[in-house]
Amino acid sequence: MAERPITNELGFKTTYQLFLEKERVPAVRAFHIEDINKVELFPWERMGGRGVYLNLEGTEGVNDCYIAEIAPGKLLAPQKHMFEELVFVVSGRGATTVWRDGQKKQTFEWQEGSLFSPPLNTWHQHFNGDGKNPVRLLAMTNAPTVLNLFHNIDFVFGCDYAFTDRYNGEADFFSGNTKALSQHYQETNFIRDVRTFELIERKERGAGGRMTLLEMGNNVMSAHISQFPVGTYKKAHRHGAGAHVIILKGEGFSIMWPEGKDIQRYEWRAGSLLVPPERWFHQHFNAGGEPARYLALKPFSSRKFPGLRKQWGTSESVKQGGDQIEYEDEDPRVRRMFEEELAKRGLTSRMGDVYGTRAA
Ligand SMILES: [Fe+2]
Repeated sequence: MAERPITNELGFKTTYQLFLEKERVPAVRAFHIEDINKVELFPWERMGGRGVYLNLEGTEGVNDCYIAEIAPGKLLAPQKHMFEELVFVVSGRGATTVWRDGQKKQTFEWQEGSLFSPPLNTWHQHFNGDGKNPVRLLAMTNAPTVLNLFHNIDFVFGCDYAFTDRYNGEADFFSGNTKALSQHYQETNFIRDVRTFELIERKERGAGGRMTLLEMGNNVMSAHISQFPVGTYKKAHRHGAGAHVIILKGEGFSIMWPEGKDIQRYEWRAGSLLVPPERWFHQHFNAGGEPARYLALKPFSSRKFPGLRKQWGTSESVKQGGDQIEYEDEDPRVRRMFEEELAKRGLTSRMGDVYGTRAA
């Protein structure tokens, strides 16, 4: 995949690119990240800690990530901005204080595996609650889209509008309460640990998978957590750009390909981060000895605030004009590749029962 150029044909840069240059912290431009625990971090003055931006190719410039580290016993600088963010705690424990100017502050605690979203344009400040170990946070944001839309950095970081429809100081906002919007959709603003959060069986994507879709912080971004059993793989599918897939548990690999082109294979384990490019088919294989679980952080994917979901893909077969490849329509190399990988590891396929499952 050709790397996106920094300047366009007239020599202009995006406002997001100008912002990155002002941040004076590097941005990793890569296809995927092998281990988010090990990405090198750099001093980051605005944030008051160390960090790095991640601009993965599959985002197509729609969204981004940053990793921020809080030194033992320390805190980051307060921030407020007009872009949304979903914050995943990679390691460590601590707390975040959220407030608006002149209003009461509220603080909630988190730990490794927690997921939360500071409400749009509120002040928020992160603290390390451990005097011995650093905290590592990974945040997925829609800063690129918001900065490029208004092309004014001062506005994005200096707007005073209070989005009280999203958050109005509710005392239980970060309590971790969940509200079911449907069988698979939960609304919540805080998850203590995405690695153990309860998931619901979902047959559409095959392989005895379980998943929960998450609406958080009244955002237009959303997330889901998905798990699939030992000896199985999911059906191939495609959708829009920018879904950041963080492997939480297990070992395996994914294949990805643009329609009509050759497949590319990526190995993963807990801590790996993949972003399937826009409309590329992708398919996940569990090649390890435990269920594989991942967290997907997705831009413009809310169903509570519809209207921005474009090309997000369906669970209908490509034969019906959808975006999923049923097991029986797969390239025979797919099944072979999986069985060979399992054999290498002394494992056997448990796909016998699931090859017959069809989209509902
Ligand atoms: Fe996907």
